[in-house]
Amino acid sequence: MTVLAAVRGVSVVYGRGEAEVRALDRVDFEAQEGETVALLGRSGSGKTTLLHALGGLLAPTEGTVEWKGTSLVSLDAAARGDLRRHGIAYVFQGANLLPHFTAFENVAFAARGVDAQRPEELLLLVGLGARFDHLPGELSGGEQQRVALARALAQQPELLLCDEPTGHLDSDTGERVLDLIDVLQREFGFALVVATHDPDVAARLDRAVEMHDGRIAREQVAA
Ligand SMILES: Nc1ncnc2c1ncn2[C@@H]1O[C@H](COP(=O)(O)OP(=O)(O)OP(=O)(O)O)[C@@H](O)[C@H]1O
Ligand SMILES: [Mg+2]
Repeated sequence: MTVLAAVRGVSVVYGRGEAEVRALDRVDFEAQEGETVALLGRSGSGKTTLLHALGGLLAPTEGTVEWKGTSLVSLDAAARGDLRRHGIAYVFQGANLLPHFTAFENVAFAARGVDAQRPEELLLLVGLGARFDHLPGELSGGEQQRVALARALAQQPELLLCDEPTGHLDSDTGERVLDLIDVLQREFGFALVVATHDPDVAARLDRAVEMHDGRIAREQVAA
């Protein structure tokens, strides 16, 4: 098994003095090629911070973040570009689409420079064939989340990080987005790390990691 992304002894401290928050406290975590992992834990336990550290979106206060065994800080420019373009893709809590660009343009934008499946195909895949020209404000929450998913897939990532992909959705819509992520993961084989409050999400994945106060409190491997 190849380890794709890893954090080793990673702490993230926000603020200073009385305002100091230790969001991650010497965390070790690895995402292997093709595996699916749930990050569970109460609000404020450090799930988003761990995803951000793993994806190279923030520099930890201590410890190292690695991509395929190489510390992110020592990657050369080419490897960095590669990682950003199609190593890791991110689906943020609440979609985060570009508001003045259509569904199609949002996906096409991410597909730049990548030998990606065409944006049309990806939007069809997530069931939004009839919404190419809609702006994010003209889409429902679930539809926006699906555009965000199509956009992430346009990068053809090896690792997909999803931060509460169903957090703002009603349970039916959330269920459909999850089914879709399942289907896509099987088809494309990317590794998946999902932060969620939902034990049903965790039950679908290979293993679940529970966070508590910035630490990994428990790990469970699916039966
Ligand atoms: N930019 C920031 N500045 C200061 N403190 C922060 C910042 N971002 C997060 N924190 C704090 O770090 C801790 C971990 O936050 P994080 O967002 O990782 O939690 P979470 O598990 O994702 O929570 P939720 O389930 O509510 O999304 C929290 O106590 C939070 O208040
Ligand atoms: Mg969070």
